[in-house]
Amino acid sequence: MVAIAVLNQAVTSTSSRGAAENLAAAMNSAQAFSRNFETVRALGMVSNAIEFWGVRFSGFLHASDRVARVNAFYGGLSRATRTGLQIAILGAGAYLVLHNEITAGMIFASSMIAARALQPLDQIIGSWRQIVEANTAWNRLSVAARGPGNWHDVALPTPRGALTVDQVIYQVPGSTDGLLPLIKRVSFEVAAGETVAIVGPSQAGKSTLARLIVGAIEPRSGAIRIDGGEIRNWDPEDLGRHIGYLPQDVELFPGTIGQNIARFTPDASDASIVEAALRAQVHDLILGQKHGYSTLIGPTGVRLSGGERQRIGLARAFYGEPKILVLDEPNANLDALGEAALERAIMQAQAQKRTVIVITHRPSLAAKCDRILMLCNGQVEIFGPSKEVLDGLAQRQSQVLPSEVSQSVPPHLPHIDKDRHQ
Ligand SMILES: Nc1ncnc2c1ncn2[C@@H]1O[C@H](COP(=O)(O)OP(=O)(O)OP(=O)(O)O)[C@@H](O)[C@H]1O
Ligand SMILES: [Mg+2]
Repeated sequence: MVAIAVLNQAVTSTSSRGAAENLAAAMNSAQAFSRNFETVRALGMVSNAIEFWGVRFSGFLHASDRVARVNAFYGGLSRATRTGLQIAILGAGAYLVLHNEITAGMIFASSMIAARALQPLDQIIGSWRQIVEANTAWNRLSVAARGPGNWHDVALPTPRGALTVDQVIYQVPGSTDGLLPLIKRVSFEVAAGETVAIVGPSQAGKSTLARLIVGAIEPRSGAIRIDGGEIRNWDPEDLGRHIGYLPQDVELFPGTIGQNIARFTPDASDASIVEAALRAQVHDLILGQKHGYSTLIGPTGVRLSGGERQRIGLARAFYGEPKILVLDEPNANLDALGEAALERAIMQAQAQKRTVIVITHRPSLAAKCDRILMLCNGQVEIFGPSKEVLDGLAQRQSQVLPSEVSQSVPPHLPHIDKDRHQ
């Protein structure tokens, strides 16, 4: 019976894993599609989305059906074996009684003891599927609870904001070894209170570098340090309080504008929320909304424009006392007024000695930073004082391009380099 249990486990393990993986994939896609339902409907993707989900869900059903069938077979086999064993025990007992070796009562005693001994094994085989499922779920929970990295719980003092990126390599997890890393041995240092613009062509890895700096993803090798301490050693919640991050695709969460700015901190004070909005220069924009800071956004509330989302996202980045601000193309959706507000916000952060890393395609914004880092193809191409870098780029462009094009220098910084690379 132990052999049957082991065989049952061996035969069902792949299907059980397949069922769990397919179910997780189906749930994930369903969540993603329903989150972006409007886009899905507008692009006529509804039936495709249902099919995409259905293929995964049917994968789950097939796999779990197979597990159930194999389980039923081994469950039946185990029950038949148990009954056979009990018959054998009774038969052997009867034989021994006839030969006067044991008493009749002992037949029943041994039969009862055998039943008690075999029942647990039978039950284990019968409920094997639940055992495997519980085990997989437990492992998933343990991984999620551990979180990324191996941080420990010692609270570190508030950093000053010096940032070191040391030989960082990043490769998309799961990609084959033949694929080149997205970030290739990038090293640079930013002093506390310094403002650095990261420029470069599209797909250079700028957003990936920003995600590495804020600890959203982990480098494959190398280290990112804040005030000399590796960010891996920070409690992510604690680190998040010192970092303001504006992602390239700003996603605000269902709730009020105030809650979004306060990063959903339950006991956030109104003063701190208004202060963040003032720092990001969006207080007036928020007061212009129907219910001001209490305006509900998300599927049930107001739909904000791209520019509004970006500016409220900026206020969220400024919430608390962030020492390091990482802004990924904060002006991508802004008009001239919004851009002027953004520049004021960055200048103010500079005056308050916050470290600012801003990814931008606009030379006007880059010119206002202390230094410019040009990232090309996942590598640092140039890193120097902004004036020098801009002058160098303008010079380089006038050499490469015909004179009438070079007059508009530099319309979009990265294109200069993109052309050169192509
Ligand atoms: N998780 C991922 N899996 C696969 N590819 C990825 C992943 N993350 C980034 N990439 C790829 O890495 C490259 C760099 O992406 P990244 O977003 O960093 O570029 P970028 O410099 O910010 O470009 P842009 O200026 O257009 O925002 C892109 O080609 C992107 O497709
Ligand atoms: Mg980007």
